[in-house]
Amino acid sequence: MPPTGIAVDVTDHHHSHQDYKHRFDPTHANGNGAQIAEDEEEDIYREVRKQTRYSDGTVKLRNPNIELMDQDILYHLALGSESHDLNEMFGDVKFVCMGGTPKRMENFAHFIMNEIGYKLPAGTMLQDISAYSYRYSMYKVGPVLCVSHGMGTPSVSILMHEMIKLMYHAKCQDPVFIRIGTCGGIGVEGGTVIITEDALDGQLRNSHEFTILGETIHRPAKLDKKLARELKALASPDDPYDTIIGKTLCTNDFYEGQGRLDGAFCDFSESDKMAYLEKLSANGVVNIEMESTIFAALTYHAGIKAAVVCVALLNRLNGDQVNAPKEVMNEWQARPQILVARYIRKVLAQKGQLKGIFGAQGSIKSPRRFKLVQQESQAHE
Ligand code: URA
Repeated sequence: MPPTGIAVDVTDHHHSHQDYKHRFDPTHANGNGAQIAEDEEEDIYREVRKQTRYSDGTVKLRNPNIELMDQDILYHLALGSESHDLNEMFGDVKFVCMGGTPKRMENFAHFIMNEIGYKLPAGTMLQDISAYSYRYSMYKVGPVLCVSHGMGTPSVSILMHEMIKLMYHAKCQDPVFIRIGTCGGIGVEGGTVIITEDALDGQLRNSHEFTILGETIHRPAKLDKKLARELKALASPDDPYDTIIGKTLCTNDFYEGQGRLDGAFCDFSESDKMAYLEKLSANGVVNIEMESTIFAALTYHAGIKAAVVCVALLNRLNGDQVNAPKEVMNEWQARPQILVARYIRKVLAQKGQLKGIFGAQGSIKSPRRFKLVQQESQAHE
C-alpha cells in the first residue's frame, strides 16, 4: 500500500471532494520524509490505469456523464463528438505535444513531419484543425498531434479537459502527452533543456490546487519518471548544450509570482528575491514556468503518461529580463523539440512505424531531376 500521505483516490470515481482531500495530503507529497519508492508509484499507476483504460488501452473517462450525453461539443477545439468522426480523424494519435503558442506548435508540426518521414497526400498541406475556435491551434501529423495551450494554468486546464475527452471519443490507445515549453532557469544557463521531475506549486507542493463547488482540493502533480529518464537518455553528448532533470516551480504569474523585480508592481527587495531563488534552488528547483502543475495533475488523474520538457530562456540568478537575441531564442526553442522528436522516432522505430528519413525530400526521388523539372516549368510560366 502507498503511504497515506500520497494516496490518491483510485478506486472510486464517484468519490466526494472531501474524500479526495483527506486521502491526498499535499504537504506530504514533497518528499519531506515520505519519499515514495518507485515500485509503490508503479502500484498507484496500475490502480489509476484500472480507472482510466479499457482493456484494449483506449482512454476511459472518470466522468460518467459524458457517455450519457447526446453529443459532446469540444467547444474550444471547434470539434464535436457527433459533428465529426473523431475516431476516423484522431484514432491513430499516439503522441500529443503541447506548447504555448500557435506558431511554435505549427513549427513543431512541420519539424516532426520531417523527422518521422510523414508524407502528406500530394497537393495537401497542414491545416489548423481548431482554427475556427480562435482559441487554440491544432495540427495533426500522422500519430502526432501538435496543440497550442496558451499561457498559464487556466488556459491549459480548459484544453486538457477537451484533449482528454478527445482521446476518449477518438478511442486513442495509450496516448503520451508531452509539454514543450520555455522557462526561467535557476542556476542554469539560457539554452539549457530541462526535463521536469516533479512539478511544484507556489508553496512547493507537488500538487495542483483546484476549487470545485467552492471547495479546495489538491491533485498530485506527478509526471512519469520513467519517461523523464527515457527523454534524458536521448540527450546526445554532441548536443552543444546541457539537458538536465530537476524540479519545476509552476507559478500563476510571470512577474511578482516569479520573484521578478521588473513588473508593474514590486514590494520586495533584490535581496528578498535572491533569498527566494536560493531557497528554490536548495529545494531542487531548477526552473520556473506557468503550466506544469495543471498539466501533470490532469494527465496523472487521467492515467496518461506525460512529460514536461522546457528550455531556459535565462538564468534567473543573473536577472529578470528575457533579452537574448531573436535568432538565439529561436534556436533555443528548437532544442526541446529535437529531444521530443528523438523520443517519438525511437518509439515509432520500436513499433516498426518509422517511415525512414525521406521526409526532407517528401515524394522527390531525385532532387537533381526535380530541380531540372522545376526550372523547366518556370521557364514556361
Ligand atoms: N517562462 C516563464 O514562465 N518564466 C520565465 O522566466 C521564462 C519563460
